Amino acid sequence: MKKKVLLTGGTGFVGKYLTQMLLNKGYSVSILTRTPKKNTDDISYYSWDVSAGSIEEKAVLDADYIIHLAGESIGDKRWTVARKKAILDSRVQSTALLASVLQSNNKKVKAFISASGVGVYGALNGKGICTEDTPAAHDFLGKVCQEWEKAADTIAKLGIRTVKIRTGLVLGKDEGFLKKMAPLFRRGLGSVLGDGKQYMPWIHIHDLCAIYLLAIENEEMEGVFNAAIEDSTTNAIFSKTLANIYGYSLWMPKIPAFVLQLTLGEMAILALTGRRISNDKLLLLGFRFEYKNLDLALRDCLNK
Ligand SMILES: NC(=O)c1ccc[n+]([C@@H]2O[C@H](COP(=O)([O-])OP(=O)(O)OC[C@H]3O[C@@H](n4cnc5c(N)ncnc54)[C@H](OP(=O)(O)O)[C@@H]3O)[C@@H](O)[C@H]2O)c1
Repeated sequence: MKKKVLLTGGTGFVGKYLTQMLLNKGYSVSILTRTPKKNTDDISYYSWDVSAGSIEEKAVLDADYIIHLAGESIGDKRWTVARKKAILDSRVQSTALLASVLQSNNKKVKAFISASGVGVYGALNGKGICTEDTPAAHDFLGKVCQEWEKAADTIAKLGIRTVKIRTGLVLGKDEGFLKKMAPLFRRGLGSVLGDGKQYMPWIHIHDLCAIYLLAIENEEMEGVFNAAIEDSTTNAIFSKTLANIYGYSLWMPKIPAFVLQLTLGEMAILALTGRRISNDKLLLLGFRFEYKNLDLALRDCLNK
């Protein structure tokens, strides 16, 4: 019998790629979503409404594994008070809802695997490389990631193997960050953001999904793991590489930090700050990244 993996947020960027990878590996997939579609031969859809606390419990009760990706996008809209609450609640309350279904039914899935972000470390530009032991930051994203991981820990306390994937900037075809940036660069309008010195720990979508698969299959894997390439890509290097792939050298002036701050408000922190990340913990588990070179990863995503 096929093992069943329940994905929350399975309709998103990571979820769609991961669904395909899991199906290719012989798993059966179900998806918890706010807008269920008609089931297909391969995928069952279940509905939930996190803010109302409602969920089709069968989704959880039938699952062998849960991968929790759901959450309001952090980069789509300005961080108003209401938006910040939605970003936090959609992650923490959704985890709590899953935990309550698991607990009240005494259901033991084989593993609960939650997304998290390297934003947990805050803006540590130039101050060393963050390992999983680096303390969390006290800024907004640091707090979101901490609360999100703390909620996942309540599931660990039920005796369920729990893994938290602190994810860097995910690169994929026509999705995520590249979907926003590629059209500008394609038109020759790419530029460096701020002083360009901020680190941009990145990961190719294929490698990220392979890490989720490893988290399912390797029973030794537990706790937090950084998921990003350990290099020293800065925004300037990233922008230069992207421009070169489109056949030109950057010529546009750098976009000053204050312009981004005026346009994006507090969310400008996403564009203007970063940190370097260690992935040693994953390597020690035997994980090998397929895409370690930024140029090759970008070319794959851009079909170049
Ligand atoms: N992409 C990146 O670069 C990156 C980097 C670091 C961390 N991450 C984290 O990894 C996870 C997956 O990322 P992604 O890029 O695939 O995100 P995404 O494309 O924005 O998809 C997230 C999914 O979450 C669900 N969702 C959104 N708001 C929700 C709400 N209020 N209640 C319940 N579900 C909600 C949506 O599913 P439905 O519409 O079907 O309900 C959506 O498809 C996210 O938690 C993200 O923060 C991503």
